[in-house]
Amino acid sequence: MAYVLSIDDLTVTLGDAERRFTLRAGKWSIAAGEVIGLTGPSGTGKTLLLELLGMLRAPDAGRYRAEPLAGETGAPQAFDSFWKAPNAIALCAQARARFFGFVPQAGGLLPFLTVAENVEISQRIAKRPDPDWASALLGELGLSQIAHLRPGALSIGQRQRVAIARALAHRPFCVIADEPTAALDPENAQAAMGLLIEAAQAGGTATLLSSHDFPTLSHFAMRRMALQITSAPHDPNVVSTLVPLEAQKTASAPQEVSG
Ligand SMILES: Nc1ncnc2c1ncn2[C@@H]1O[C@H](COP(=O)(O)OP(=O)(O)OP(=O)(O)O)[C@@H](O)[C@H]1O
Ligand SMILES: [Mg+2]
Repeated sequence: MAYVLSIDDLTVTLGDAERRFTLRAGKWSIAAGEVIGLTGPSGTGKTLLLELLGMLRAPDAGRYRAEPLAGETGAPQAFDSFWKAPNAIALCAQARARFFGFVPQAGGLLPFLTVAENVEISQRIAKRPDPDWASALLGELGLSQIAHLRPGALSIGQRQRVAIARALAHRPFCVIADEPTAALDPENAQAAMGLLIEAAQAGGTATLLSSHDFPTLSHFAMRRMALQITSAPHDPNVVSTLVPLEAQKTASAPQEVSG
């Protein structure tokens, strides 16, 4: 199951009485095995964009599709239309479980399950049991020795590695990681990001990650995209637009306001 995800003018607007925030995701695609690093100052909509792409939130307009790569099996998926189907809740939940793996910022592990059970549960939800792949991931992420422990007994860095194993265990097409290293010190951040990227690429998974952490990002070759506010300053109708940045592996990335 190797797909390419295509985004075409995907847009969403959030609003209240005083102001509106519109996210414009532009036109781009990501294929199996590719890594995209998403940056942008706080409040420019990185989390919102990852929610749209992870089928956690409906777009207002635009196309969002997954097409099997040439020679691959699998049916095309019109993700944007799922939200309008009569069985939208079930369709979107199924798409999330089968196509996506999530690495939340703070790990998001189930405290009453062991490390091994936390990893296994995503396979069970996606109906793709594969104990060999689960234990290979535990080994690759350095978790085999602590597979029997519960998250409460782990360090923050270990929990983040369990979250990475869990996100990849059911062989999702795409792993979505929102600030996956924000809770880690620089050394652990670089190690965790390296493991996320390596493990995802080993499984042929596409990786979309957001980060404020330019020093850590600069250690890895990846495509970069950035969210930028494109409306006028003080305009109550804020517009944030996704733009591609040059693919880079450089330590001299621009500084951004961290949030
Ligand atoms: N109901 C609403 N009305 C108007 N704007 C909203 C509403 N809800 C959220 N927003 C705005 O949408 C944007 C969403 O930003 P989001 O949380 O995705 O940013 P982010 O880039 O992930 O930031 P951070 O780096 O701090 O995590 C914010 O600017 C927020 O103020
Ligand atoms: Mg965010």
